[in-house]
Amino acid sequence: MTSLMVIVPEIAVHYCGAERNLVSLWTVRVLEVHQLMDMRQHFAPVIEHADGQIEVQLGGLHPGSADPAYRARRSAIASLALRWRAGQPLPDIAYDQREESVWREVSRAIEPLHQRLACREFLAGQARLGLPTERIPQLAEVSAMLAPLTGFRYVPAAGVVPLREFYEALAAGCFHSTQYVRHHSVPLYTPEPDVIHEVIGHGNCLASDRFAALYRAAGAAARRVQTDAALEFVSRVFWFSLEFGVLTEAGQLKVYGAGILSSYGELGAFHTMEIRPLDLVAMGATDYDITVYQPVLYGAQSFEQVEDGIGGFFDGCDDDSVLALTHGARTHGKVLA
Ligand SMILES: [Fe+2]
Repeated sequence: MTSLMVIVPEIAVHYCGAERNLVSLWTVRVLEVHQLMDMRQHFAPVIEHADGQIEVQLGGLHPGSADPAYRARRSAIASLALRWRAGQPLPDIAYDQREESVWREVSRAIEPLHQRLACREFLAGQARLGLPTERIPQLAEVSAMLAPLTGFRYVPAAGVVPLREFYEALAAGCFHSTQYVRHHSVPLYTPEPDVIHEVIGHGNCLASDRFAALYRAAGAAARRVQTDAALEFVSRVFWFSLEFGVLTEAGQLKVYGAGILSSYGELGAFHTMEIRPLDLVAMGATDYDITVYQPVLYGAQSFEQVEDGIGGFFDGCDDDSVLALTHGARTHGKVLA
C-alpha cells in the first residue's frame, strides 16, 4: 500500500476546523492512500509524492476532479506556495483567460448583491480598496493596496493551513491565502476557499480599519490560548462571525461574514436561514460543515455589537475563560445583547 506524506494536514483551517472527524485524520502525518481518499471528498489535501512531486488531490465530488488540466494547474499553483519563503516576493500567478473569465463573471454577478446585502463597513472597505473586476489581482498587488490602509498583507497558502498558524498570523496583520481559481464549469460555486473568497471576501474586509482590528484581535486571541480546545473555540467564534456573520442595519438583515460575501449562492439564500442572537457559548461549541450552506447563522444587532461582543471576546479570552464557557459556566441566558 502506498503511503503519502500530507503536507498541509494536522487540522483544518478556519473554514473547516470544527469537523472533529476531519481533525483527527488531518493530525496524521502519513496516510495510506485509501485513508486519504476516504476523507471528505470536497477537501483537497496537498501531498508530496516520494519523487518530490506536489499534488493537490481533488475528491470525486469536486467540480474539477475529472479535469486533468485543472488538477495539474492546482498542483502547480500549490507548488509555488510551498516553495515560497518569508521575505521573498509573493509568487505571481500567470492566470489564463479561463481563470480571468471566472473572476469577471463572479465580480459582475456579486457586485449588485453586495450593494444590496453587504453591511456598510464592508462596502466602505470595498470602496477604499478598489479591487479590479476585469482581471484577477495578484496577492502582491492586493497586499500593496492594503498596506497603507490597514497594514494587512497576504502570504501564499497551498491549501489548508494549520489552525494555529493561520490565526496567529492574523495578529501580525498577515493573511494566508490560496491563489487558485475555482473550476470554470461552476463559476458561482466552490467547495473550498479560492482566491475569489480570499480577496473579494476577506480582502474587502481587511481594507476596513474596524474589520482589520477584529481580525487582529482574533489573532491575538489565538496567540493567547494554549490548548487546542480553546483555539478551536476561538476559530468557531471566528467562523460564525467574520466568516458567516450577519447583522441588522436600519431594520434590515445585512452580511458582514466573508464566507457569505464571497458566495453568490449564499448571498441569495442567507436570509432564509435560521438566525439566532449572538451567543458565544453556542458559536464556540457548534460544529459546522464547510461544504453546505450554513443552516444556522448568528445575527448581531449592529456592527458595534460585533465589535463589543465578538471583538471583546477575542480581546479578553484565555484558556480559563474559554474552558468556563465550554463547560457551561455560562450563566443562564448569557446571550450577547
Ligand atoms: Fe475564509
